[in-house]
Amino acid sequence: MKPLPVTLETEKTLFFHNYARLPLTITHGEGCWLVSEEGTRYLDMISGIGVNALGYGDKRLLQAITDQAGKLIHASNLFLMKPQFDLAAKLIEVSGLSKVFFANSGTEAIEAAIKLSRKRAAMSGNDDKKEVLSLSNCFHGRTYGAMSLTAKAKYTDGFDPLLPETGMITFNDIPDLEAKVSEKTAAVFIEPVQGEGGIHALSCEFIEKLVELRKRFDFLIVADEIQAGCGRTGRFFSYMHFGLQPDLVCLAKPLGGGLPLAAVIGSEKMADVFSYGNHGTTFGGNPVACAAGLAMIEAIEADGLMDNASNTGKAMLDALRELAERHPQILDIRQYGLMIGITVDKEAKVYVEKALQKHVLVNATSQNVIRLLPPLTIGREEVQRCIIVLDEILTEENKEKTGI
Ligand SMILES: Cc1ncc(COP(=O)(O)O)c(C=O)c1O
Repeated sequence: MKPLPVTLETEKTLFFHNYARLPLTITHGEGCWLVSEEGTRYLDMISGIGVNALGYGDKRLLQAITDQAGKLIHASNLFLMKPQFDLAAKLIEVSGLSKVFFANSGTEAIEAAIKLSRKRAAMSGNDDKKEVLSLSNCFHGRTYGAMSLTAKAKYTDGFDPLLPETGMITFNDIPDLEAKVSEKTAAVFIEPVQGEGGIHALSCEFIEKLVELRKRFDFLIVADEIQAGCGRTGRFFSYMHFGLQPDLVCLAKPLGGGLPLAAVIGSEKMADVFSYGNHGTTFGGNPVACAAGLAMIEAIEADGLMDNASNTGKAMLDALRELAERHPQILDIRQYGLMIGITVDKEAKVYVEKALQKHVLVNATSQNVIRLLPPLTIGREEVQRCIIVLDEILTEENKEKTGI
């Protein structure tokens, strides 16, 4: 068979209409840069939507993957496999929680957490305790349970009926929180820092009230750390900035070092909720992905990448604030480590396209938010490059508008 051209036109003939892809064919990556078919280097401020924490080509990660692939790629969860044990122990160490379940993707971790929440509620003897709540503007995934917790109509329209006994609390609205939770609440799912929603953090007051109400109504707090976890905000989990102790934590994206891997980590009180056969997956906890995940976490620790996320993120914020003083198109900037949202006065995809022409890859979310999720390895020079390009784009736009 003749090889097909890898273009947007061919993509349309082959695939369902899931993704609005950029017209860029990537062949490989080097550090914080992606390289196109033509050999052009693009500064990657997206890192595979927050996946490639170590950037591209980290030798330790490659070694862990090749070593494990050479021994065993898959055997199933019928057997004991050391890479799963090692990674589970590491996750327990960094979280202070007790039990781990491995899945393959973020949405699957959320599904497992919904099942754990409902099963624990059922075991409490309160037959009415089934309600699973989430927060407005949130994103938890696209399978039925996760989609039912996800706020925006663009993800849910046309897919009714969704999971029953789900509901939404207005983000950071304490009176609404107090009004919505009750004895019927099995769990409240939160993103301590919302990702797809445009990079917004919960307030300490809201979290304090949530913790107080958990005590009163005995529901679970589930922290979705799928985008904000694994060091991106400067702490291993973003909930750590708030002193929160969640009952369940969902991780994915960077967890497998670029291979598909997710986890639910639970506190001791969740230990006996699932019994054999209640939940499972063929691929979850794949040994190559687990070996990669452990290498990735060890590299984050050894290289001080959480500190880099804090410090470089702060430097980026300062530089962006300086840009905002000169460019009225920037309306707001939010920065949590290397999770950065820039609200602009128009559809952010305009800037995605302009930055692409200047060989910088940024992402748009929530209509008018430019989202930056660079590798945690990013350095000051690369940040500088990104700022120069944003400055150029905003200046050119002003010139076009004013003619000066
Ligand atoms: C906070 C959050 N939860 C869940 C998901 C779903 O993860 P996945 O795309 O791996 O299913 C995402 C993905 O963007 C996410 O950002």
